Amino acid sequence: MKIVFATNNPHKVAEVNEVLGDAFQIILCKRLVVKKIFLKPSPHWKEMLCKKRYVKENYGTDCFAEDTGLEIEALNGEPGVITARYAGPSRDPYSNINLVLNKLHNKENRNAQFRTVIALILNGEEYLFEGIVKGTIALEKRGTGGFGYDPIFVPEGYDQTFAELSSEIKNEISHRARATKLLIEFLKDFI
Ligand code: IMP
Repeated sequence: MKIVFATNNPHKVAEVNEVLGDAFQIILCKRLVVKKIFLKPSPHWKEMLCKKRYVKENYGTDCFAEDTGLEIEALNGEPGVITARYAGPSRDPYSNINLVLNKLHNKENRNAQFRTVIALILNGEEYLFEGIVKGTIALEKRGTGGFGYDPIFVPEGYDQTFAELSSEIKNEISHRARATKLLIEFLKDFI
């Protein structure tokens, strides 16, 4: 089955591909296609619906998009919908991480979770799939794997950050893996 994944993020593509397996062929949107509608800030899952509708309307292809937020308990759910732009519009992962670490300085409660929502448009219908992984924010950056906030996120049941764990483990337990598995279960009926 061929389906478009509306994203510019190669890390996400690699992770989703690994979970999806051979039954699905992911077709990527070219950078320019998605960029046009992706620049304005908006609540994240609405942004996704917008992305996939854009693809459907302009390319006539069924499509899914995903968005991820980091939610930190002691910061009342921040960065949440502004996870990508937490430290400013440059979306710089190092500045984002440093801001989180500074805000959590001296805070005992370091509980956090990643939440991924996948929005799918298929045969004119729209569907949402959610995956969550709980964990804690490390005291400092650790590891070189993954991307984004991975160097400071320690998933429940592990001592290492996502950036220290192998991609196999991340793709088994992560927010994105969980949401993708729900998507696969759903799509199985269509292949
Ligand atoms: P978006 O889903 O592309 O909007 O990403 C939101 C923000 O979360 C960006 O700063 C990403 O780098 C970060 N992010 C998304 N997925 C992950 C992940 O799996 N690990 C760590 N950071 C992530």
